[in-house]
Amino acid sequence: MKKSSLSYFPIVVAGVCLAVFVMTADAVNVIHPKYKKGGNNVIPGRYLVNFENKSAGTLFAQSLEASNVDLSIKKKYSHEFFNGLSVHIDPTDDKLHASTLKTILDRSDVRSVTPVRLIQRPKVTVKTIKKGTKVPVASVIPHAMTQVDRVHTELKNKGKGVLVAILDTGVDYMLPALGGGFGKGFKVSKGYDLVGDAYNGYNTPTPDSDPLDACGAESGASGHGTHVSGIVAGFDPSNNFTGVAPEANLAMFRLFGCTGATGTDVIIEGILMAYDSGADVINLSLGEYSSWGDGDVEEDVINKVVAKGVNMVFSAGNAGDNGISTVGKPSTASAGFSIASIENAYHTIRTLTASGIDGPITYLPGGDDTIADNEVVMSDKTGAAADSCTPEQVSPNVNGKIALIQRGTCYFEDKAVNAMKAGAVAVIFYNNIPGEEILISVTANIPVISITNADGKALAAAIKKGTVKLTFDHKEVVAPSNLGGTVSDFSSLGAEAELNFKPQIAGVGGNVYSTLPRFLGGWGIMSGTSMSAPYVAGTMALYIHSEGSKKRQAVSFVHEQFQNYALPVKVYNSSVIDSPVRQGAGLVQVYDAITQKTHITPAQISFNDTSSSKYKKQTITVTNRGPKTISYEVKNDVSTAIAPYDVKTSGYTPLEPAENYSAAAKLRFSTKSFKLAPGKSKKITVTVTPPKTNPRDHIYYGGYIHVVSKQKSSGKDIKVPYFGVVGSQKTLPIFDTESGFPTVIDQSGNEYGAKDVFTFDRSIKNSEPVAAIRLLTPSKTIKAELLNATTKKVVGVFLTGLNYNGRNFLNSDDNQYSTYIWDGTYIPSSMPDAPLPIPAPAGTYVLRLSALKLFGNPKTKKDWETWTSGSIVLKN
Ligand SMILES: *[C@@H]1O[C@H](CO)[C@@H](O)[C@H](O)[C@H]1NC(C)=O
Ligand SMILES: *[C@@H]1O[C@H](CO)[C@@H](O)[C@H](O)[C@H]1NC(C)=O
Ligand SMILES: *[C@@H]1O[C@H](CO)[C@@H](O)[C@H](O)[C@H]1NC(C)=O
Ligand SMILES: *[C@@H]1O[C@H](CO)[C@@H](O)[C@H](O)[C@H]1NC(C)=O
Ligand SMILES: *[C@@H]1O[C@H](CO)[C@@H](O)[C@H](O)[C@H]1NC(C)=O
Ligand SMILES: *[C@@H]1O[C@H](CO)[C@@H](O)[C@H](O)[C@H]1NC(C)=O
Ligand SMILES: *[C@@H]1O[C@H](CO)[C@@H](O)[C@H](O)[C@H]1NC(C)=O
Repeated sequence: MKKSSLSYFPIVVAGVCLAVFVMTADAVNVIHPKYKKGGNNVIPGRYLVNFENKSAGTLFAQSLEASNVDLSIKKKYSHEFFNGLSVHIDPTDDKLHASTLKTILDRSDVRSVTPVRLIQRPKVTVKTIKKGTKVPVASVIPHAMTQVDRVHTELKNKGKGVLVAILDTGVDYMLPALGGGFGKGFKVSKGYDLVGDAYNGYNTPTPDSDPLDACGAESGASGHGTHVSGIVAGFDPSNNFTGVAPEANLAMFRLFGCTGATGTDVIIEGILMAYDSGADVINLSLGEYSSWGDGDVEEDVINKVVAKGVNMVFSAGNAGDNGISTVGKPSTASAGFSIASIENAYHTIRTLTASGIDGPITYLPGGDDTIADNEVVMSDKTGAAADSCTPEQVSPNVNGKIALIQRGTCYFEDKAVNAMKAGAVAVIFYNNIPGEEILISVTANIPVISITNADGKALAAAIKKGTVKLTFDHKEVVAPSNLGGTVSDFSSLGAEAELNFKPQIAGVGGNVYSTLPRFLGGWGIMSGTSMSAPYVAGTMALYIHSEGSKKRQAVSFVHEQFQNYALPVKVYNSSVIDSPVRQGAGLVQVYDAITQKTHITPAQISFNDTSSSKYKKQTITVTNRGPKTISYEVKNDVSTAIAPYDVKTSGYTPLEPAENYSAAAKLRFSTKSFKLAPGKSKKITVTVTPPKTNPRDHIYYGGYIHVVSKQKSSGKDIKVPYFGVVGSQKTLPIFDTESGFPTVIDQSGNEYGAKDVFTFDRSIKNSEPVAAIRLLTPSKTIKAELLNATTKKVVGVFLTGLNYNGRNFLNSDDNQYSTYIWDGTYIPSSMPDAPLPIPAPAGTYVLRLSALKLFGNPKTKKDWETWTSGSIVLKN
């Protein structure tokens, strides 16, 4: 009794793809006190083995070499933070796989075993600058927005002597801007290639000592690490290019091959190598779809490195379009600094002139800028919002001309192809909403460019009046960006799953001009939190340089100091301050962070949700570290609130993106104004009265405690960002039952409802059932139980490892839902401590999934949300 295929999205569970594309929990089902569950995206057969101590590791390797266990050692770690191995066990034979794992787990010298997870390379958008094109570089560099220019000129501080380690895709250090060489005496003074060009996350790395990115233009490599390196420390006076800390040194640890992903085993090795290289700042912009904080080997290593005084900076993630709680691991680690992105005030753009319109129109080419001078005409006959979505709508007038098309309703690709088929020689898209020209990439074989909504309307009006001819000079100009100084759309929103304060601060990450490898032309513009994180890492290098030979401040102090003096930015085209859930403390202001003498701790406040009164009252401490008595006044600067849901129309399916909302919390301060003598501290208690919005809406309110300095010349204002949620997070549904999840599907994507019977015949390949799950809300634990279909009694557990689950995204190419195969084994309830699952006897079962609600107590039954499948007949 098969139901029709899930029709609302494509299913990727087919044949051999299973091993590669499906997000699986642990590849093999094991319960053991030392086995740390893997969560999503584990690499089959790959494990990190953590030893009790160094000598234990040696013994382990020796005894393995002497035994017949089918296991290969991929990496050895011998470090004060991590002693262990990365091993590979052949995953194709489940029994051998499980028993080898058990042999390892049973050893007394093994502390824990963790599956290695796959981490995708960071997503960025790229604008390459054509060779020979002149960009007025000086004006596109955002250092005036962040006070980096003042640190360079007034403090004469360019980060000399500070070593910033970057874990990325390698670097083309032969560029003049990056020093023209590698090793002692060069800007890129240290580094290592942990993986080799061909590594893609699944295959075996081939390390070598040279982190050069020489992938070549044909490889598909992005040049990401070279771009990041230029942002932190590039310097090329003949091209007017200056990075944030142009006299700092770089250490590049290459974690990615030319294309593909990397593994957590490589990342951990990279972090340890960066620490050992003596780095003062370590940067990492890797992302996972999970907003959970600590709970992993990786986060454990990060917290240990930071505890040693090394500053670790992480990109918050590029999933802002997907709404609330999209900030990603490992930026969520409690000791890490999670960086949001703000748009550059200026961007590079090209211009065209149109007969009948005064002044140039700016445009963005989609790909190579080969559009030629010609007449422009309207593409759509009907003038519909669904402009040119069908071939019938396209006017024959476009033949031999440039077609003007409005964005919206269907794909750019379809519109362009429809116009091309009617004979258009090029397409101009205009935005259907105010804002920027958008970067468009289509595979239609005609040139495509994009312009703003306002310019599109002006062109359309001119076309109504008569013939409009366009001329293109194909030169890059620098122009103010409409969105300059606002939070980038792509910048991931907080908070961390349990409402810890993330992201924490912002750098400039939208439209950042920097170096690219020679094979990509040397220069280009990229956008992403991958750009804002190195920007902040560079400012940290400036701070560290300013400490000189004095004793270093603790990392937590430096983070607070940066947050104290950051600049909260406003919502686009509005006078309202944007939410701390988007921008943290705001845009980094490094001159003030270095020079100002008043310090507030903590530098960020989460008032949590309103289910408990425990978090309503919090205390901040203001300390005068300067030489003079100063006086302050305290007030509340309210920011926009954020509506994560539209409960009436779409329930608790998160809005993607989340919407702004008007709601203000009241704050009561124990002191409204005060004086502070040198060396003295003052505690201020802050009590919140959240706005009276409907608790069902889970509105994220927020703002900034504004500590106003009464002596402008010697003291700047300080701001402490705060947020909270009106409502109880525990009431949020976890499973997307409205869209029919969880559900059981077969490996061709056919769905089986509660009344359908699924037959799983072990002797038939690929006949296993697959549980497809879509989470609206993060869940710390999902229990996967196997029940006797007749008695409805639990017979055991069929899957383990579903811990720290992030939510799924609806508007996304991947991560829309997660799938888990049941391989026919289980851990019987009668032997809960059995280390390994055994094949279930033939018979009829049902699967039951129970997800723990946010802040739920695992021991309280009503804190779990439960779903039960239809019958599954297991045949041997
Ligand atoms: C290291 O671990 C081994 C195996 O657990 C143990 O026998 C030994 O005493 C440990 N050595 C130290 C120095 O802790
Ligand atoms: C560098 O900046 C100066 C002053 O703005 C300008 O005259 C010069 O053309 C620029 N050089 C390049 C290579 O952009
Ligand atoms: C919020 O409250 C829950 C319990 O209601 C707690 O588990 C969680 O840690 C709190 N988060 C923060 C940031 O205080
Ligand atoms: C750190 O490396 C990641 C890639 O691994 C990159 O995306 C990010 O921009 C870098 N951040 C810093 C602070 O250098
Ligand atoms: C809400 O705020 C975001 C972030 O600043 C902004 O991009 C968006 O345009 C705002 N929406 C409205 C309707 O003002
Ligand atoms: C800015 O806001 C004003 C008033 O809300 C509105 O009339 C105008 O169209 C907006 N401009 C843009 C470019 O969004
Ligand atoms: C379910 O329980 C019934 C009654 O105890 C038993 O006969 C049957 O074998 C059980 N089925 C399975 C799959 O365990």
